[in-house]
Amino acid sequence: MSRDDQRTQWFRDSRFGMFIHWGLYAIPARGEWVKNQEQLTDEQYQPYFDAFNPSRYDPREWARLAKHAGMKYAVLTAKHHDGFCLFDSALTDYKATNTPCGRDLVREYLDAFRAEGIRVGLYYSLLDWRHPDYPHYGDSRHPARNDPSQSNEHRDWNRYLAYMHGQIRELLTNYGKLDLMWFDFSYDDLEGEAWGASHIMEMIHQYQPDMLIDNRLEGSGSSRGSIVTANPKPYAGDFTSPEQMVPPDGCLNDLGEPIPWESCMTLNDHWGYFAGDTHYKSARLVVRSLVECVSKNGNLIVNVGPDANGEIPAQARQILTEVGDWMRGNGESIYGCGKAEYPKPEWGRYTQRGNTLYAHVMEEAVSAICLQNMGKRAQTLCRLADHSEVKLTRFWTLTGYDQHAFFFPYPGQASSYPLPDETDTVISVKLAKED
Ligand code: GLC
Repeated sequence: MSRDDQRTQWFRDSRFGMFIHWGLYAIPARGEWVKNQEQLTDEQYQPYFDAFNPSRYDPREWARLAKHAGMKYAVLTAKHHDGFCLFDSALTDYKATNTPCGRDLVREYLDAFRAEGIRVGLYYSLLDWRHPDYPHYGDSRHPARNDPSQSNEHRDWNRYLAYMHGQIRELLTNYGKLDLMWFDFSYDDLEGEAWGASHIMEMIHQYQPDMLIDNRLEGSGSSRGSIVTANPKPYAGDFTSPEQMVPPDGCLNDLGEPIPWESCMTLNDHWGYFAGDTHYKSARLVVRSLVECVSKNGNLIVNVGPDANGEIPAQARQILTEVGDWMRGNGESIYGCGKAEYPKPEWGRYTQRGNTLYAHVMEEAVSAICLQNMGKRAQTLCRLADHSEVKLTRFWTLTGYDQHAFFFPYPGQASSYPLPDETDTVISVKLAKED
């Protein structure tokens, strides 16, 4: 196993994480891009800073929810694009400790999640819509992009980099061991060394050598030196970060080798709190998406957007609680698992760890479920959720039936419908070594 494999092992084993997008934008409640989308000036955005007072913020509750859901790591927005810091940075006044809230929200989050045994990560926005030295007029993503009075004549990019690097150093040195840092994002000419990526990496090596990072210090369009090439740049990152989608074949590099990846997904249609967005995914869809990721050697990080009080919306809590109920019985088919040696079956998906294959049955069948081409290898079977015995059966009317193994998910019954768990009925199959 290479050093890289060892570094990313916990991440690849964890498979399921919680993303948390939280900041001033919880107050307008129209998503974390509101300042950009509505082209708000600093003055127009200021009332949210003046009012920010999430009195019901209790990260221990968040951590307990994440734990119940079966999430093994979490990532919180220490600073998002609007530049507001949830942590007590010495380099700016634009931070939670200066609002009516008056607390270092990052420190409390880290303490709470660590206490539940959940690995901790921080998201840090490379963009900053508040810093005076960040390009305004003409920058494709800045809220003031269309305002010629906000020209960039006196803006000093190096001063911004010094600020940004200084904040990253603060996060790397003031908050104990971090498992992960999620940089977001590169665009246009702003990628790689434009962010001073090598310097950022030096700091990471110096202060948090085991910490993992995503791949967004680099632009998505640049393939030279990215994590998918045979010779990735030092800042290419440890995993790829497909957003709001699951790649059809997982992620491979140019040599065809699997690389760590994490699909990030919102629970409704927004990252930051959006009061009017009730378009939530069902627990069943979340579970199935997670299984899909694992079956392709990837992770899923599911987002929650706490509101201005500091609470994760009730609907999100409900969904994650249901996901957790499924994980309680079936988590064994997720953690430490990956792509199986058999192709995707007709009725669902496979995941595998060592000699244990997990058959995730998602579609009911009129008769038995078929483990194709596993006739000689499938040994003992059980339903994972309750460890009830599942027996193999045969169909003498089928030519070549011994190539396949068949089972009914209910012990002692000759039907597969309705499935015991319509979300995903998991059958654990011990495989004999191939002869
Ligand atoms: C995008 C968005 C951002 C969000 C991120 C999560 O890059 O800019 O708001 O934080 O995706 O992946």
